[in-house]
Amino acid sequence: MWNFRLLDVQDAALFLTVTFYVFRLAGAISIHSPQRSLTRSVQDDVLFSVDVTCRGIPTIQWTFMSGVVSRSIGTWQPGVYANITEDYVDRVQPYTNGSMGLSLLRLQDAGFYVVTVTETTGNSKDAGFVLKVNEVIYEDLQYLSVSALVLACLVGLGMLAMWLLDKAYRRILAWKQQRANRCRTREQENEATELQPL
Ligand SMILES: *[C@@H]1O[C@H](CO)[C@@H](O)[C@H](O)[C@H]1NC(C)=O
Ligand SMILES: *[C@@H]1O[C@H](CO)[C@@H](O)[C@H](O)[C@H]1NC(C)=O
Repeated sequence: MWNFRLLDVQDAALFLTVTFYVFRLAGAISIHSPQRSLTRSVQDDVLFSVDVTCRGIPTIQWTFMSGVVSRSIGTWQPGVYANITEDYVDRVQPYTNGSMGLSLLRLQDAGFYVVTVTETTGNSKDAGFVLKVNEVIYEDLQYLSVSALVLACLVGLGMLAMWLLDKAYRRILAWKQQRANRCRTREQENEATELQPL
C-alpha cells in the first residue's frame, strides 16, 4: 500500500516535470521572421521583420553585434513604452509586432542584430539577423572614373580625326594650288610659243 502510494507521488512528479519541460520547449514565445539575412546599400532603409507572439505583453529588445562591439539599440513593450538608445533614436522605428526599421544605413551598420523577446513570466527567446551593407558610393566613383576614361578616349579620337581631316584638307589645298600653278605656267608657255613666230 505504502509502496503503491510512493509510486503514485513519483509518477505525479514525473508527470509534472515532463509537462513543465514540454511547456517550456513548446514555448509560449514564437518569433516568426521571413528573412534572416539581408543585404542593403549605404543610405538604404532596412526592416528587420518579425512577428512575435507570446502570453501577455512581450518586452522586445534589439541588440547590435559586430566583432567585439555589442550595443543595445532599444527596448520596447508594444503600446506601453519605447526606449531607443540615443545613437539610434533618429533612425530606428519600433513596430508592435517586434519588427525594427533602421533607416539611412551606414557601412558601420553591417553585422548581427539580435532580438530578445521576454515574457512577463521571465521566459525569453532570441532570434538573430545578419545585415550586409554595400558601398554604393565607391561603386559610383568607379563607374564615374570609367566613364571619364571612355569620354577622354572619345575626345582623343575626335581630336585625332580633326587633325587628320585638317591635314588632308591642307594637302588638297596644296595640290589644287600646284595644279593651278602648273596650268598657269603652261598657259604662259603657250603664250610664249604663240608669240614666237611674230
Ligand atoms: C510587422 O509589422 C510591419 C509593420 O506593420 C510589417 O511591415 C511586417 O511585415 C510585419 N512582419 C511580419 C513578419 O509580419
Ligand atoms: C532606456 O535605456 C537606457 C539604457 O538601455 C536606460 O539607462 C534608461 O534608464 C532607459 N530609460 C527608460 C525610461 O526606461
